[in-house]
Amino acid sequence: MPILVRPTAPFADQKPGTSGLRKKVTVFQQPNYLENFVQSIFDSLEGFGGQTLVLGGDGRFFNREAVDIILRMAAANGFGRVLVGQRGILSTPAASCVIRKYRAFGGIVLSASHNPGGPHEDFGIKYNIGAGGPAPEKVTEAIYAQSQAIGEYRIFEGGAVDIDRLGSQRLGEMAVEVIDPVADYAGLMEELFDFPAIRALFASGFRMRYDAMHAVTGPYAHAILEDRLGAPAGTVVNGTPLPDFGGGHPDPNLVHARDLVAAMSGADAPDLGAASDGDGDRNMILGRNFYVTPSDSLAVLAANARLAPGYAGGLAGIARSMPTSQAADRVAAALGIRCFETPTGWKFFGNLMDAGLATFCGEESFGTGSNHVREKDGLWAVLLWLNLLAARRQQVEQIVRQHWATYGRNYYSRHDYEALGTAEADGLMADLRGSLTELRSKRFGEYVVRLADDFAYTDPVDGSVSMKQGIRVVFSDGSRIVYRLSGTGTEGATLRVYVERFEPDPAKHDQDTQVALAGLIRLADEIAGIALRTGRSAPTVIT
Ligand code: G1P
Ligand code: ZN
Repeated sequence: MPILVRPTAPFADQKPGTSGLRKKVTVFQQPNYLENFVQSIFDSLEGFGGQTLVLGGDGRFFNREAVDIILRMAAANGFGRVLVGQRGILSTPAASCVIRKYRAFGGIVLSASHNPGGPHEDFGIKYNIGAGGPAPEKVTEAIYAQSQAIGEYRIFEGGAVDIDRLGSQRLGEMAVEVIDPVADYAGLMEELFDFPAIRALFASGFRMRYDAMHAVTGPYAHAILEDRLGAPAGTVVNGTPLPDFGGGHPDPNLVHARDLVAAMSGADAPDLGAASDGDGDRNMILGRNFYVTPSDSLAVLAANARLAPGYAGGLAGIARSMPTSQAADRVAAALGIRCFETPTGWKFFGNLMDAGLATFCGEESFGTGSNHVREKDGLWAVLLWLNLLAARRQQVEQIVRQHWATYGRNYYSRHDYEALGTAEADGLMADLRGSLTELRSKRFGEYVVRLADDFAYTDPVDGSVSMKQGIRVVFSDGSRIVYRLSGTGTEGATLRVYVERFEPDPAKHDQDTQVALAGLIRLADEIAGIALRTGRSAPTVIT
């Protein structure tokens, strides 16, 4: 069989970040760059001979070329079969679904998530384990170690596969199944949610706008919302995936999904607005003239989970990333279930879900999901919202306001300072770390520091420890400021500042978030010296 073993040398910059390896397309286009990383993945795994690998991506620029290389490397390295999404497409949650359903050994997902795509933009690759979730740190560390010692890679050069044609083909001794990227995922959604009730909701005149942002969820949303649930044609907008996402930034937040935000304002706006990101794992939920923060969305969904058939038995527990607001903790307390606080990144939820400790998980960064797969899942969140709207027949705003009245409101916002110099950002974090002891005894006007630390997490399932996961400054009234640097960027550094304050009094639930948090936002700047050190008077993105 024409398997070539090609000599290569390490690239120093192949350390995976919060979610796989992300670099500019031009970096991935260097000879051997992708090959080295893929061979490092395979070299760090054991026992995959003859087994199944799942492969697909968000369709961004370089997706097809990467799929071709990875198929040939999988054949040369001894996989028995690859399940690849037609045209190289699989959303991140669909990839997780397919890995689990077909008991694959693992999967490779090609995506840089919400980062822009195109010849001069970003590309990414990550490995998912057999449980369907992102590789845990010990695996990503092993991949990185291999990448630093690599001397050769294996690639099959004896033929090609047509990834546009559904069905079975062969690449040397390896079987390649080109699968419908939507079918398995749509089937799973139908098991979890009350499709007849949602169909009845649409039939009653309920209107929705789903913005796929020219990214991967277009075909999924067309098939599920319009074809299976009977939403009128045109409910899904920007539904054709494009390699450069139409030149946009496929990140469903108030800044990048501004068209959707505009369409959702005004008296005759649709009842529900939603958007998803490049690879389909994020979601944003809007009501008419109303924005639901991701942290509130997690809490509301958890409180109403029993309305969906898949969760009628209740939740085992909830998990949220540390910077996510504590709204979900209040729901967990009321339900009498546990709430786990993990570091940022979906990979930390996998063990909790595998062990049956958490059913719903969420992050403030527009990520929500459950144990149906091991990734966050944008359309899943949208469908659960639809399910609860179908059951309760209220407006989104009413549902959230009632939630606040019951549990209190956690005012919450994240301020991002993008494109800072790496040294400048590292210096700011180092100095913050150095000032923790001093901070612990401080008082700032009405705010008395109760806890100041660098968040460390011990996984309750396997005991692994993750250090330096973000600086927390917690005040005696429970308000918090959290600082951390992004681990997903491809250029410079991004400082994220997360601010939260709890308001129990329903009479005070009507304030603008930035106004309600103004005192803490000022304090966040004072404590870290952001303006002084970076020269920035305002954040780049506020969510
Ligand atoms: C960001 C989000 C984080 C999310 C990750 C992948 O990571 O903050 O919650 O898990 O993207 O979608 P960061 O850039 O902050 O490291
Ligand atoms: Zn994503």
